[in-house]
Amino acid sequence: MHSRRLCSPSCILIVSLILILIFTTRCQYKQENTVDNQEKNFIGSTEVISIPASTIPTKYLVVPYYEFVMRTSITCRKNKIDNPGKNPANLYPKYSKYLRGPFSYVIPSTNITFDDVEQFYIKTLVNKPKNKQMIETHFAKNITFENIPYVFKDGLWFPVGVTSAQRTAILVTLQGRYYNAKTFLLNIHTFLRRQQLTYTVIFIEQVAPVTPRFNKGRLYNTAINYLEKQSLNITCLILHDVDLIPEDDGNYYTCERNHPKHTTIRVRKLNDTRGYTRYYEFLVGGVLLLTFDMYKQFNGFSNLYWGWGGEDDDLALRFIEQKMCVVRPTYESAIYIALQHPTGKRNSARFGLLTWSTLRLYTDGYEQIESLTRIVHINQTSIVTHLQLDVDATRDHEHSASSNAIKIGGIRTIRTKPV
Ligand SMILES: *[C@@H]1O[C@H](CO)[C@@H](O)[C@H](O)[C@H]1NC(C)=O
Ligand SMILES: *[C@@H]1O[C@H](CO)[C@@H](O)[C@H](O)[C@H]1NC(C)=O
Ligand SMILES: *[C@@H]1O[C@H](CO)[C@@H](O)[C@H](O)[C@H]1NC(C)=O
Ligand SMILES: *[C@@H]1O[C@H](CO)[C@@H](O)[C@H](O)[C@H]1NC(C)=O
Ligand SMILES: *[C@@H]1O[C@H](CO)[C@@H](O)[C@H](O)[C@H]1NC(C)=O
Repeated sequence: MHSRRLCSPSCILIVSLILILIFTTRCQYKQENTVDNQEKNFIGSTEVISIPASTIPTKYLVVPYYEFVMRTSITCRKNKIDNPGKNPANLYPKYSKYLRGPFSYVIPSTNITFDDVEQFYIKTLVNKPKNKQMIETHFAKNITFENIPYVFKDGLWFPVGVTSAQRTAILVTLQGRYYNAKTFLLNIHTFLRRQQLTYTVIFIEQVAPVTPRFNKGRLYNTAINYLEKQSLNITCLILHDVDLIPEDDGNYYTCERNHPKHTTIRVRKLNDTRGYTRYYEFLVGGVLLLTFDMYKQFNGFSNLYWGWGGEDDDLALRFIEQKMCVVRPTYESAIYIALQHPTGKRNSARFGLLTWSTLRLYTDGYEQIESLTRIVHINQTSIVTHLQLDVDATRDHEHSASSNAIKIGGIRTIRTKPV
């Protein structure tokens, strides 16, 4: 009797603790469910994905990083994709007469050269007698690309007979991966022409310092700075991974008026029978379309990420800090094939950098790029402008004062042989 009485207060305590635990877990579960349903309606797809709202303040983002990323969406809640009307003086891809639905991309043999791609576009394709005829080359059989009339002028490709609504620059960072780059080039020109875009393709390669750790942020900041100072009058920037090839003409490569557009929604690996992987809604990597003004609003990429990983998530945090959201095209058309490549060296410092990402927004980015990097070589051909960069130019600053140093648009440039 006596011992029982002594036990009962602690028993009550334990039971109430258990009850509290059950109650809170249920609440959380319910909360997740509601957000889940909203998300589903918003996307309007049949696939169920769980993206509950985050409770972690982004300013003080402390791990669990993975959980934060999986729980946070930067998709605009209300804004829909722009729907421009037909205007012959301002043609949008939607009204192109060359849209064919699925894009029959070509995977060439590995002995293809950049020169082959250029010859293909300026000779082979043009000389094809009939539009539907198959083309055989030494690097690929059965190419069925149509000959869409285009002219190359002042560094840009223009569709013949129409005026595109936007002038587009496709910016692609390289880290070796030349075979992917050639495959990308072979396909992207036809893809862009089917949408009758006025465009140029720019490769950005880090040639110094020679290290497996590349700095994608500095590469993009430098190339966009370079582009801003050219008189190409570009109105739309597309940051595009080299290993991704769009698979559907309905994925229009145009910038939106008010928001960046992110189009890497579903990706499948080449020769992978498992089908598409759908990406998380925090992602801005892969393919991102935006204007110069939008890029400046979040001060571009951070310049501090060396190696693979982190810089894209850093960008997403900048979006949140600037109250920017991204729009995404329809689930059906935003599909990509991913080419194979070896993975790069991971950046182990990325989690540390991410924790104070938004505090650096105004002091680490596009505004600060000019003193950090140097374009060492520019090779312009009709199919691509290839920029080679020293992304750590402060390391050997005296070198840049040598006699053959010239200034291009504020960036110290040295003409040297490609490294
Ligand atoms: C420039 O690019 C063309 C085509 O890819 C190539 O044939 C040529 O060797 C390159 N020139 C230099 C100096 O890199
Ligand atoms: C390139 O490779 C393909 C397929 O392996 C082959 O048919 C072709 O002859 C090669 N071309 C050259 C120029 O070696
Ligand atoms: C190319 O087309 C021919 C004739 O239509 C066909 O026999 C062959 O299998 C095709 N080759 C490839 C690689 O698709
Ligand atoms: C860009 O615009 C300026 C001013 O309108 C014009 O002089 C220049 O020719 C344009 N550049 C191109 C490549 O069209
Ligand atoms: C993909 O499959 C095709 C035939 O189905 C094959 O010719 C090609 O080599 C494969 N590519 C890769 C990268 O495995």
